[in-house]
Amino acid sequence: MRIRRLLVLLLALVASRALAVELGGEGTPASASSCEWCHEQLGDPLSKPVAGFRNDAHKRHGMSCATCHGGDPGAGFDGDAAKAMDPRKGYIGVPAGRRIVELCARCHSDIVYMRNEKPGLPTDQERLYYTSVHGKRLLSGDTKVAVCSSCHQAHGILPATDPESSVYPTRVAETCGRCHGDRAYMSGYDLPTDQLEQWSRSVHAEALLERNDLGAPTCNDCHGNHGAVPPGVSHVSRVCGQCHPANDEYFQASPHKAAYARLGIAECEFCHGNHEVRRTSDEMVGTSEGAVCLACHRGGSRGYQAAYEIRSALDSLRTLTEKVAGLAGRADRAGGFVEEVRFALQEAATFLKRARTLVHTFDPDRVVEEVKLGLVSGRKAEAQALQVLGELRERRIGLAGFLILIVGVIALLLVEIRKVDRKRRAD
Ligand code: HEC
Ligand code: HEC
Ligand code: HEC
Ligand code: HEC
Ligand code: HEC
Ligand code: HEC
Ligand code: HEC
Ligand code: HEC
Ligand code: HEC
Repeated sequence: MRIRRLLVLLLALVASRALAVELGGEGTPASASSCEWCHEQLGDPLSKPVAGFRNDAHKRHGMSCATCHGGDPGAGFDGDAAKAMDPRKGYIGVPAGRRIVELCARCHSDIVYMRNEKPGLPTDQERLYYTSVHGKRLLSGDTKVAVCSSCHQAHGILPATDPESSVYPTRVAETCGRCHGDRAYMSGYDLPTDQLEQWSRSVHAEALLERNDLGAPTCNDCHGNHGAVPPGVSHVSRVCGQCHPANDEYFQASPHKAAYARLGIAECEFCHGNHEVRRTSDEMVGTSEGAVCLACHRGGSRGYQAAYEIRSALDSLRTLTEKVAGLAGRADRAGGFVEEVRFALQEAATFLKRARTLVHTFDPDRVVEEVKLGLVSGRKAEAQALQVLGELRERRIGLAGFLILIVGVIALLLVEIRKVDRKRRAD
């Protein structure tokens, strides 16, 4: 070990001499910090932190390697690493586990310090962290859990608003998934490792990654940033309700609220899942195959009857809007004016959307009421579309008549011309 260290130091020394010669003399290194200056010249993994640190928020704020690792960044330009990495000058080596949290928290939990350095940056990360499963397990000696640098990296830390940051919304899932999706790493725990895989197939991932909809949830939106805990059975709807407030409100007031609590069933999760939330459809409600209601309601019960009525109502409005959309398309392709039809159709679609949200009341009357309003708009659109198509037909008949007339006139003219011609030749 000692020999290897000596060899590396020797190499560093040779490199530093070579650099000094290249720069045209002793003692004029390119970097003001001996840590960066020397480490840059060493191979991986000792040089990697320098590259990562180049664009780090701390570096841009004027900090150096020694801010975290200690030591003397003014010493060691002669190639003597020991002078720079000197424990007497506070050098701590590579921190791990709780020492990392202490290191970051030294500044990030210091309200006065942060108010001066970066006003507005929250200072509650450490406190929240120790309420999370990660933090609690760390305190009990588990060093495989995430600490600050697991999610933020150690070198190359960026604000969460920077698209390059490991905690930017589009990158969070891969950051958490590095551990949670790694079966070997997580083998000591009694936890599934499919969250990343499932989430990647969800309607949420599609919205976030394909449509860049930053309003769609990734891991930390449901689990918290620093207080990463699984939302408990009774809290799932709170989590989903942040973004789907109407669904949550209806659910809370529905007969399922008390029933699910009694049975210990997770609210939204039972019908939609948690990680692999898929796009919904009317097939999910009702009494035919694929309907979620069938999991708990059998024929003859009130729930079963309600499911049937809700589905029939939704079907009637959906069928009508689909039919009118077809008519509008035909009229449009034939060159008719369909602005008004589209407007009424849009209105019907809005009622249909609201009726689908009202499914969460599980009250057929509420759904039917909304569907009726939609049917009024839908029928208006239908009448308008039929009128446009009718007008188009009339215009076409008119046009055909006109064409026949013109052809007739031309034929008559030709006959007359021929007559005149013949007469002239006879003369
Ligand atoms: C002249 C070259 C040189 C200078 C200057 C230097 N280092 Fe190092 N550093 C090394 C070498 C070589 C190693 C690998 C051998 C070792 O662990 O001692 C190393 C290792 C490290 C490690 C990893 C230690 C481990 O246990 O794996 C850290 C952290 C580190 N240096 C930080 C610093 C900091 C902070 C400074 C500035 C205060 C600094 N270094 C200055 C050459 C240097
Ligand atoms: C914001 C605090 C911070 C700063 C600044 C910092 N480090 Fe680190 N460094 C850490 C932490 C924390 C680790 C622990 C390992 C980890 O989590 O990756 C670490 C690990 C290391 C290691 C061990 C190998 C590795 O990559 O894990 C080396 C070598 C190292 N740092 C060198 C440097 C050098 C050189 C600089 C300056 C260019 C620097 N560090 C700046 C916090 C910091
Ligand atoms: C499990 C992953 C994880 C761990 C562990 C973690 N963070 Fe974070 N951190 C995040 C995420 C995700 C965000 C982004 C929040 C957002 O998008 O607004 C964040 C944001 C931040 C911010 C920006 C301000 C804020 O609070 O939103 C700071 C500063 C920060 N973290 C510091 C820390 C410190 C210090 C620790 C250790 C005590 C730590 N983090 C531990 C994931 C983590
Ligand atoms: C010496 C004090 C200090 C230490 C130690 C420190 N930080 Fe910071 N950190 C800051 C300051 C100051 C800023 C604000 C920099 C700026 O944007 O100008 C900052 C910014 C950040 C940000 C970006 C916040 C944002 O959204 O703007 C994150 C994330 C962060 N630090 C995480 C960490 C982690 C993780 C560690 C430990 C590995 C750590 N810090 C260690 C002082 C420190
Ligand atoms: C360094 C690896 C690592 C990273 C990165 C990481 N975790 Fe963890 N996480 C763990 C380990 C290990 C556990 C402990 C397993 C257990 O609870 O039994 C854990 C536990 C959890 C739990 C508690 C599970 C339970 O039911 O006990 C949740 C929730 C969680 N992590 C979410 C996240 C989220 C969200 C992120 C990203 C923002 C993240 N983790 C990043 C390693 C990691
Ligand atoms: C839309 C919200 C949501 C998103 C996004 C989400 N989770 Fe979850 N997660 C949950 C819910 C709800 C539970 C289950 C809680 C329960 O049943 O008690 C859960 C459970 C977990 C657990 C505990 C073990 C398990 O699978 O039941 C872990 C670990 C976890 N999630 C990690 C992640 C990771 C990593 C990501 C990102 C890839 C993520 N989650 C994204 C809502 C979410
Ligand atoms: C951070 C906000 C947010 C959270 C938290 C959230 N969602 Fe979503 N959800 C969205 C967005 C954005 C969409 C995409 C809307 C779209 O593309 O039509 C969506 C889509 C959906 C869809 C598909 C809607 C459709 O039209 O078929 C369902 C179902 C859904 N979420 C259920 C849930 C459940 C269940 C939870 C909790 C476990 C949850 N959501 C948590 C924002 C969120
Ligand atoms: C008993 C099953 C069940 C539960 C519990 C449930 N849903 Fe739904 N959800 C459905 C059905 C069925 C549909 C499809 C309605 C349709 O398209 O006809 C749906 C559709 C949705 C949609 C898309 C339609 C819309 O409203 O935009 C979202 C979003 C949604 N649910 C969120 C939630 C949330 C959030 C919770 C928890 C508060 C929840 N659901 C609880 C059955 C359920
Ligand atoms: C996870 C099981 C489960 C699912 C899935 C489920 N229900 Fe229920 N539902 C219940 C329970 C339990 C009750 C309470 C029954 C009781 O107390 O007698 C209930 C009650 C009802 C009631 C009130 C009946 C009454 O007797 O007052 C209606 C209406 C209802 N459900 C409709 C639906 C519809 C519609 C769906 C599908 C979208 C559905 N349920 C899906 C378990 C479920």
